[in-house]
Amino acid sequence: MTEREALGRRRRVVAGVVASLLVLGPLAWFWWTSLVPANASVMDMGYPDTGGGPTATTGPHGHGTTDGPTVSVAELTGPSAGVPDVDVTLTAESGPVTVGGRTMPGFTLNGSSPGPTIDAQVGDLVQVTLVNRSVADGTTLHWHGVDVPNAEDGVAGVTQDAVPVGGSHVYRFVVDHPGTYWYHSHQVSHAQVRGGLFGVLVVHPVADDHAAEVVAAVHRYGSTPTVDGSTDDLRTDAAPGDRVRVRVVNTGSGVLRAWVPGAPFRLLAVDGRDLHEPGPVDAQAVVLAGGGRADLEVTVPDDGTSVRVRLGSLSVVVGPSGDAPDGDDPRTYLDLLSYGTPTDVGFDPRAVDRRFTYAIGRRPGFVDGRPGLQWTINGHTYPDVPMFVVSEGDVVRMTLRNTSGQAHPMHLHGHHLLVLSRDGTPSTGSPWWADSLELAAGQTYEVAFVADNPGVWMDHCHNLPHAQQGLVAHLAYTGVTDPYVLGGESDNAPE
Ligand code: C2O
Ligand code: CU
Repeated sequence: MTEREALGRRRRVVAGVVASLLVLGPLAWFWWTSLVPANASVMDMGYPDTGGGPTATTGPHGHGTTDGPTVSVAELTGPSAGVPDVDVTLTAESGPVTVGGRTMPGFTLNGSSPGPTIDAQVGDLVQVTLVNRSVADGTTLHWHGVDVPNAEDGVAGVTQDAVPVGGSHVYRFVVDHPGTYWYHSHQVSHAQVRGGLFGVLVVHPVADDHAAEVVAAVHRYGSTPTVDGSTDDLRTDAAPGDRVRVRVVNTGSGVLRAWVPGAPFRLLAVDGRDLHEPGPVDAQAVVLAGGGRADLEVTVPDDGTSVRVRLGSLSVVVGPSGDAPDGDDPRTYLDLLSYGTPTDVGFDPRAVDRRFTYAIGRRPGFVDGRPGLQWTINGHTYPDVPMFVVSEGDVVRMTLRNTSGQAHPMHLHGHHLLVLSRDGTPSTGSPWWADSLELAAGQTYEVAFVADNPGVWMDHCHNLPHAQQGLVAHLAYTGVTDPYVLGGESDNAPE
């Protein structure tokens, strides 16, 4: 080999190494930065997005702090004094659940799944003592749709530590909006909720003029659909002419369609908020997002037959007999943008203090070191996701956009979103308040809310496997600090 040849070869080797480094270096860097630190505060996660509002200074503990006074999430509790009007103990266990005569591994509360339905009256102080008897990963309870004070929100690693086996935790909050809600674990939720660690919470209005009501929680254990834990249809007795409220809860990750074959009905409420002047609906289905609720009003016919509410493949049959007309999904859907009539919403959604975009996309990359096709939020992958920063009293606008090719039921904790428009079509019906908003592939929603509940709040996809894959961001109020960490001694893992 001549000296020239040797030099040429050395150059090629160097070039090859440089080329590999150019490829592998960034790859290694992306891998490295995708790792979720073992004891991370969500306050140090990602980057602050102040939405055009005052910039929060980033103190030692994150994006939500300012130079002014601070308050810890742990201090943002419900009333600590006062005798509760509703006092329930829920004991969580890891153990078999029986579904349609078959037994499968899962989770129970007080020995059953779903756990007991909690009934409260509007204005009640509710106290729930969660006891973890045997859920090895630890557990919590989140009050889905109830805009509780932050410390009562039940999110492991954000608002509390997961409750270990042998431990307990007391939740106390006042329920100030009548409606249909549910509760579920927010520790390793993709496994615990799907395995049955949930129940229904009903907040009854002062006066309800319905002759009867039914709670219908639709859940899939494995691939088996159930209503209130049963694989059979529900039957509720009611007399001819009775108006009955059916409280439908979708505990699943995908949409649930509800319809009433051969009879008109009314949609009274969505996500724990009454609709204004809801009219009769005929031959249209109601679409419930994952985590969403809908209160349907049906009227028992005068001829001795019953009325049927179809919930996917299952039914609730209401009336004096088992004889009720049936029919397939009408495949036309009630559009809440134009249902009911407008009324005051209590704030001016045009007087915007902060404006955010929550754009969901998808691209190859790493999340926590795992390669794959990842969900992105504003182009970023978890944990490098935005922290939406607000101040108490702000009117907040958010654009929810979905170019990821899949649907996402978006759930903001602690607040209800007022829907302003979908794909440019404005809301002209009843005010539509949602806590679980189905964002179908390709859709864009414009929503607004008032930042009136200080704390650190999850804002995530309620398709729980998606959340576990990193479709999670948070909303933090300036001046609020968070003492909890993901991981840590309690192994906090909200998703
Ligand atoms: Cu139904 Cu973040 O929860
Ligand atoms: Cu999703």
